[in-house]
Amino acid sequence: MERNSIKRVTKLISSYKSPSNIALVKYWGKKNKGTQLPANASISFTLSDLCATTTVEAMPCDEVLTEPSFMFQLNDLPKASFEPKIKAFLKRIWDNYSLLKTHRLFIRSSNNFPHGAGIASSAAGFSALALCMVDLQVQFSGTPLIDARREASRISRLGSGSACRSMFAEPGVWGETKHIEEACDEYAVPMTGMHESFKSWKDIVLIVDASEKSVSSTEGHQQLDNNIYAESRYLSAKKSMDLILDALKKHNLPTFIHTVESEALQLHAMMMVSPMHFILMEPNTLAIIQKIWTFRKETHLPLCFTLDAGANVHLLYDSREEDKIINFVENELLPLCSQKQYFCSNLGGNPIKLSTIEK
Ligand code: DP6
Repeated sequence: MERNSIKRVTKLISSYKSPSNIALVKYWGKKNKGTQLPANASISFTLSDLCATTTVEAMPCDEVLTEPSFMFQLNDLPKASFEPKIKAFLKRIWDNYSLLKTHRLFIRSSNNFPHGAGIASSAAGFSALALCMVDLQVQFSGTPLIDARREASRISRLGSGSACRSMFAEPGVWGETKHIEEACDEYAVPMTGMHESFKSWKDIVLIVDASEKSVSSTEGHQQLDNNIYAESRYLSAKKSMDLILDALKKHNLPTFIHTVESEALQLHAMMMVSPMHFILMEPNTLAIIQKIWTFRKETHLPLCFTLDAGANVHLLYDSREEDKIINFVENELLPLCSQKQYFCSNLGGNPIKLSTIEK
């Protein structure tokens, strides 16, 4: 009691740097919107070089709050368009995060890639924010958690589903699958036993369109609710999980490549056949895909594409063949990108807790 009353007058602070991720099998559709449970299991590679850094200061206040109170800045500027999602997240964790009732939060976030470059930042952002919230609640209550990372994965999902996979250097698996006993819908778990050969793989994000998406992922997920193809998609995603987990373990490249590309195209196909019917690919998205197919057919090099819910193309490739692949990217793919923009990332990398001295 006395300990809490001392803490109440002290500002609490926490800071984390978290990686983004790119799904190999896509999360597209929710079982339950309010609790953010996925309609199918998904798996992603963590992108260690595309990160969000988030610092949360929790200022004690005199009255007991009736709802979360926060200020948010992206790259030192207020960003009102992010506030509804952050508010929804804080409301969802409100019951279990008692510090929210006595503290106002000042949340500062920045990405190491330009915002508006068309790279989904919410996975990295909510992963970092969730880690800060877990840390702050532990500081406030004085009660350590047995598995803080699992708890951070669980609550980050309540901010943005894909964020829960951004907690591990290993591929993140979210959603029940018969192949991984501990995999569940509430939080992601790391996939163990990936073949060593995938450790040299990298991702190049080719920026076809740097503008904000016309349809958000959250709206996109909703389109599965009244979609006559939804059940077939969930069955297909299940099959993709079977194939990809096996391919990752055995380094079965033909299956890996086929499944990853099929998943990317199924994601966009679901957009096209949804009640709202929309297209997020641009002509140059397709032109890049065609070039990748032709190049692979001619060279047999280990590379494939995947897509997020947008026009940009992720080129996944084995960096042991980097010279030839970079040459191809520079000569054939960058001319199809907006201002020849691209971002390169290694795979893997855990979130990092940052020192909060002088923050
Ligand atoms: C296409 O995690 O952004 O990137 O849970 O509504 O925040 P919300 O959606 P979000 O959806 C990501 C969808 C995706 C595929 C994936 O990352 O699995």
